[in-house]
Amino acid sequence: MSGLLVTGGAGFIGSNFVHYAVAHTDHQIVVLDKLTYAGERASLSGLPEERVRLVVGDIADAELVDALVADAGAVVHYAAESHNDNSLTDPSPFVQTNVVGTFTLLEAARRHGTRFHHISTDEVYGDLALDDPGKFTPETPYNPSSPYSATKAGSDLLVRAWVRSFGLEATISNCSNNYGPRQHVEKFIPRQITNVIDGVRPRLYGAGENVRDWIHADDHSSAVLRILEAGRTGETYLIGADGERNNLEVVQTILRLMGQEPDAFDHVTDRPGHDLRYAIDATKLREELGWEPGYRDFEAGLADTIAWYRENEAWWRPQKAEAEARYAAAGH
Ligand code: NAD
Ligand code: TYD
Repeated sequence: MSGLLVTGGAGFIGSNFVHYAVAHTDHQIVVLDKLTYAGERASLSGLPEERVRLVVGDIADAELVDALVADAGAVVHYAAESHNDNSLTDPSPFVQTNVVGTFTLLEAARRHGTRFHHISTDEVYGDLALDDPGKFTPETPYNPSSPYSATKAGSDLLVRAWVRSFGLEATISNCSNNYGPRQHVEKFIPRQITNVIDGVRPRLYGAGENVRDWIHADDHSSAVLRILEAGRTGETYLIGADGERNNLEVVQTILRLMGQEPDAFDHVTDRPGHDLRYAIDATKLREELGWEPGYRDFEAGLADTIAWYRENEAWWRPQKAEAEARYAAAGH
């Protein structure tokens, strides 16, 4: 499995995976990425040319995908439309990329007998009540809320069917909310960090009670590498690092780490259908594959992330005005 085809490798989590895999493995990597508004060529800069090659193209382009999958030892499939708020404005690219694109990759993997790892989200399980003591497990029924999570759920089910019906050698991972460098400024944490840098107050949806289970992108990457090495065909692994925080706590931590007053934020219109709480039980990954997260201190990881955005304004500045214009139009 020496050559990896990494789809979406110019996006947030995919690019962090590519950097991580270059540093920690000997894999040759081909990135297939359409460079949508969320993909940045600059996210792959500094990587050795002899290890990483970027192919700009669409995962729904069957001919291109077939040629790339034919040459790959394994496919690691990150490419997706990934933002819930955008899926509420226009679901169409979500269906096209997340469902049709995944189908296109699966058909190529089936033709060539290629190992396939599908990257997904805990949002396929819907949400938990704020006072529910439980967490998501691989047995939790699918119950997606948004067009984004519904298309990811659809893609997971396609992968499961390709395993059962065609014997595809595939695994799936469903991870909780990631933070770290190179995340698009439309997402919660980088939006607030870059707002504060710009002297703009952070924006909290509703009361800020919604809970997300935060994991550093490097820990997501180490888990995916472990699943590629030792995961069992047809299995689903949940990836999480016991990082539950409500949004108010996250905003106030960012404010404190950036030298602002704890009340220097604004409440804005809530997201329609806003999932209340996500929480992952990663026992299977920890016990079966012996994985452990490296980042145990959310505040320290957040401080590193703030430092990255302070030091890499040239990376995020071109995204900022357009992302904020989209939010202004949606009342957020
Ligand atoms: P992102 O939006 O930052 O990156 C997505 C990448 O996919 C971009 O580089 C984009 O150019 C590329 N892409 C989009 N459509 C494409 C197409 N048709 N063909 C080729 N490339 C295309 O997303 P992300 O946050 O890095 O998420 C990556 C994956 O991880 C997604 O599958 C997402 O569902 C999953 N995930 C994300 C999180 C999270 O917290 N962000 C958590 C769990 C799982
Ligand atoms: P987001 O980063 O969009 O991830 P997801 O919807 O996949 O969980 O949002 C994380 C949480 O932050 C979610 O509960 C919505 C909330 N949020 C805000 O309060 N303010 C914001 O400006 C944004 C973008 C999100």
